[in-house]
Amino acid sequence: MNRNEALELLKDHVKSEQLYRHSLAVEAAMIAYAKHFGEDVELWGNLGLLHDIDFEKYPEEHPQMAPKLLEPAGVDQDFIDAVLSHGLDEKEMRTNTIRKALSAVDQMSSFIIAIALMRPTRLEGLKAKSVKKKMKDKAFAKAIDRAYLEETREDLGVEFAEHVDIIVKGLINQEERLNAEGASLL
Ligand SMILES: [Fe+2]
Ligand SMILES: [Fe+2]
Repeated sequence: MNRNEALELLKDHVKSEQLYRHSLAVEAAMIAYAKHFGEDVELWGNLGLLHDIDFEKYPEEHPQMAPKLLEPAGVDQDFIDAVLSHGLDEKEMRTNTIRKALSAVDQMSSFIIAIALMRPTRLEGLKAKSVKKKMKDKAFAKAIDRAYLEETREDLGVEFAEHVDIIVKGLINQEERLNAEGASLL
């Protein structure tokens, strides 16, 4: 499956602007990590794009209904298992780097975007130090579980500052691509 096919599949199942943007943000972070680890950029990006494919239709069951939507598209089992491996209760499935990366960037991408939205320069110049500060600010982005962010990052084996830098860089690249199309992550 190439990126365009993944994007079309995403659009078939996700109508919410918020979830669509989240998917693009996670794609961006996964692409940045694929480059960091020297892995398959399109595969990692597509996993980011499609990881929440079933969330809009099946919020209660998510991600357990993803196979139903991915199998008809001819996606292989390993890809499906990687989708199934993200989320709070799926730790035992996170057996390789792509799966660990997905869980480590999923909510962190949204957390970083929430911070960027409060800054005049948005993502530009956003440093790990500012993100660390917001991690400690319990009133900010309350729904995002800090312990989960830290646990999944440690499981991926990347230091906090590097983790933030990699994700921010990926988000900036994605923002440039989207701006050229008249769209935005923010
Ligand atoms: Fe999810
Ligand atoms: Fe997600």
